Amino acid sequence: MQEIDVAAAEDFLRLFHAENPAAGPLEPRLRQVQMEIYTTGTYTHTPEELTFGARVAWRNNARCIGRLYWHSLQVRDRRWVTTAEGVAAECVGHLREAAPARKVRPTITVFAPDRPGRPGPRIWNEQLIRYAGYAMDDGTVIGDPRYVDFTTMVRKLGWPGGSGTHFDVLPLLVSAADGSPRMFTLPDDAVLEVELTHPSYRWFASLGLRWHAVPAISNMCLEIGGIHYGAAPFNGWYMGTEIGARNFADIDRYDLMPIIAHLLGLDTTTDRSLWRDHAMVELNVAVLHSFDQAGVTITDHHTESRRFLTHVAREEKAGRVCPADWSWIVPPISGSATPVFHRYYDEAELKPNFAHHPDALERGLGHASVTGW
Ligand code: ARG
Repeated sequence: MQEIDVAAAEDFLRLFHAENPAAGPLEPRLRQVQMEIYTTGTYTHTPEELTFGARVAWRNNARCIGRLYWHSLQVRDRRWVTTAEGVAAECVGHLREAAPARKVRPTITVFAPDRPGRPGPRIWNEQLIRYAGYAMDDGTVIGDPRYVDFTTMVRKLGWPGGSGTHFDVLPLLVSAADGSPRMFTLPDDAVLEVELTHPSYRWFASLGLRWHAVPAISNMCLEIGGIHYGAAPFNGWYMGTEIGARNFADIDRYDLMPIIAHLLGLDTTTDRSLWRDHAMVELNVAVLHSFDQAGVTITDHHTESRRFLTHVAREEKAGRVCPADWSWIVPPISGSATPVFHRYYDEAELKPNFAHHPDALERGLGHASVTGW
């Protein structure tokens, strides 16, 4: 592994000092970091730099509509945690702290970064909480089809499987510097879930649908000032459409539109009855209603679109550009009924930011030895 990019470190320190005048003068810190990189090949962020860097990585992420509250991100500094057990235990702690009393708080846990010649830990799950997908012999899938490959991999590594429902929580797959992945089961109390009901249709509950409350992305690399934090799981709260118009609706996910349309008594023989559209709206009503009933934080796409434009305006007022990717920002239903649809955005790529790194299957971890089950 190469030593870190001095120019990236300097750019970040300039940004940090420009936005945090109370942090003192830039020059001495620049010289200190240059010297540290010269002698060790890397450098260590102060806690203040880390907190700011993580928050700005969120602020700079062009795909996220929820950035109005970027400054309130709770940063859990766990840079001394390097072992697989330690990472798994802190992920559990993260999930507990991210939704105290069902109120979801945007939270990130930052583990040890990569150092020259010594990579930091990795979490191979896409999110801390995801549901298994079991491929059946008849070609159907029980659970979330998106995770069939991951499920097959962890089963090969020794996961006995869950109870075989559509909502079996996958184990965490974590590797430390030595590279061999280990598996850890999440305790039930770390996995807050909401059972779905519909405010008008009593039959809806009998579908037995549920979803987890905390979306915690765990396979992205947090890059701050040239330092790569390969394990830095982070969460916000859900926007209803993520569950109701994608996870449950996409044909390569739970694909529930046909069954819901049928139960609603819609004419599914022609696209032009707009049965998919009707069913999708009712499913989204059910998602928002159920989270509200359970007292669990969730936002809707109308509110979040307005907040996002407030955020863009605030950023402009602060003299910054707000990078945004239209195709990710516009909600998957009723796009034109939200204000974010009716304009274009700046597409700059700014740092700090989050980047994808190759996943476990790409890295061929399915063949690695397992020590932790
Ligand atoms: N769309 C993803 C999911 O359905 C979650 C992505 C992050 N979402 C968020 N609200 N922070 O699980």
